Amino acid sequence: MLSKNAVTVLERRYLKKDADGKPTEKPDDLFKRVAQAIAQADKEYDLDADVKQTQDIFYEMMSSLKFMPNSPTLMNAGRPLGQLSACFVLPIADSMEDIFDAVKNAALIHKSGGGTGFSFSRLRGAGSSVNSTGGVASGPVSFMKVFNSATEAVKQGGTRRGANMGILRVDHPDIIDFIQCKKNTTEITNFNISVGITEEFMKAVNEKREYSLIDPHSKKEVKKLYAPEVFDLIVTMAWTNGEPGIVFLDRINRDNPVPKLGEVESTNPCGEQPLLPYESCNLGSINLDALMVKKGGEYELDYDEFRKTIKNAVHFLDNVIAVNNYPLQEIRDMTLSTRKIGLGLMGFADILYKLKIPYNSSEAIELAEKVMKFLRDTAREESCELAKQRGTFPTYDESIFKSQGLVQRNATVTTIAPTGTISIICGASSGIEPIFGLSYIRNVMDNDELLETHPYFEQVMEERGLYSKELMSKIAKEGTIAHMEEIPQDIRDVFVTAHDITPDSHVRMQAAFQKYTDNAVSKTVNFPREATKEDVRKVYELAYDLGLKGVTIYRDGSRDAQVLNIGKVN
Ligand code: CDP
Repeated sequence: MLSKNAVTVLERRYLKKDADGKPTEKPDDLFKRVAQAIAQADKEYDLDADVKQTQDIFYEMMSSLKFMPNSPTLMNAGRPLGQLSACFVLPIADSMEDIFDAVKNAALIHKSGGGTGFSFSRLRGAGSSVNSTGGVASGPVSFMKVFNSATEAVKQGGTRRGANMGILRVDHPDIIDFIQCKKNTTEITNFNISVGITEEFMKAVNEKREYSLIDPHSKKEVKKLYAPEVFDLIVTMAWTNGEPGIVFLDRINRDNPVPKLGEVESTNPCGEQPLLPYESCNLGSINLDALMVKKGGEYELDYDEFRKTIKNAVHFLDNVIAVNNYPLQEIRDMTLSTRKIGLGLMGFADILYKLKIPYNSSEAIELAEKVMKFLRDTAREESCELAKQRGTFPTYDESIFKSQGLVQRNATVTTIAPTGTISIICGASSGIEPIFGLSYIRNVMDNDELLETHPYFEQVMEERGLYSKELMSKIAKEGTIAHMEEIPQDIRDVFVTAHDITPDSHVRMQAAFQKYTDNAVSKTVNFPREATKEDVRKVYELAYDLGLKGVTIYRDGSRDAQVLNIGKVN
């Protein structure tokens, strides 16, 4: 069932190895190890629990590639490290001690395979005074470089490089420096950066007026900036090389399930998981493609199996919280107080092909909403059942659910992760992203070039007697089949790729999923190389209008080292 690529990824990074680096377990042993370790948690709530039965259910769900937890769970469950979460947010208070404590804590998290998000908004601006020494402060951007170097020095879990998110509020005195801090693309490379946008700022942009920059220490206004100009600068930089992204902080906090615990000031590295300071979250994703069945010759999504998988996945992720080995006491305390989990999905683009629905159609948007509503409703149902057996999350009485009368075990249940690695393991399209290329060239280690084709596309082309190596090579070079007259129109209509989809459609798809997602949605809005700054601005505005929590864009060819190129994948 596992593809060759999947086995390679597992062997390189996930399987247990001996001193010589030779794997001592097979992929199947990995699924057994993880299932056994996570099922143990059942005993904490019920001494008579049938742990073996739970273990079998968890094993089946992973080995059939219907569900996969985030990478740290696969790597570390049932092993001495035992750190299972992908996402953390650490606070940075405005003192040398606090800043360097955060550097150290981030290093510990990276070592265990987790990623860290930070808000630098509490640090005083560059040039402001430092009482104890009479000197001047260096400001958020210079400290980001310290975090960046520390990250560089620590490789995650041996092979996974640390990832960070850096956020600065748009009303921080150093915002202009921050927006441009990755202009030199060789600096701060271990960070994704996003500007924390406030409602007040968006209002000032719309009303074409100034807004105030506030010193985080004195809380006094230090100067005013013309909001449309700042917005322009953000758009220009994002157009130039994809960063900064933007996150709508006030909107994220409007959906904060336990506001009494504090304010959300950052997300995890890829932006899909807003968290309180010291909170962590474990993610897991359901592979929709593994839930497709054929009835009367046509594919359909098996909703009964989907329902079962959602319930088992919520059970699994709640168990992860119980058996997780937390890197710090503060993280343990915060995480256990809200018990947030993030269940999402992958393979959405794959199933659209099988259902003959173009990604950029209103039918696809309808399906997105239907699937995600089903996922969230069923996940909440299971979280409610778990609450009845195991109790609600400890801060439930102060949460928004209490007033809604919705009994929950977990303060959030849904997140759409990028599924960068686990989608390779499952052989599925990543998250909710469209397919990047139907055929592409993969460079393998010894510089051989391998032509790979999307398996279902290949099958359809073969069935229709259209498959040839030459045609697949041509598709790999061109990146899209939209204009290829040798391919029948019905196939060209359905097998759309990222390049055929307008930025507007990308954003609308993200919004359809966000509607039923408690946390946020990982998605990149792709632009063609010739897109203008005005196009980027329109997408940022649309993202705001459609209620997104944030947006990340990428204009083709705008960064030197592009992870995925048309025609070439490294
Ligand atoms: O597929 P996988 O479980 O490896 O991860 P993902 O869905 O691509 O990313 C989920 C989250 O894992 C990211 O948002 C980060 O918080 C974290 N991550 C990381 O810390 N370092 C990486 N190299 C990749 C992901």
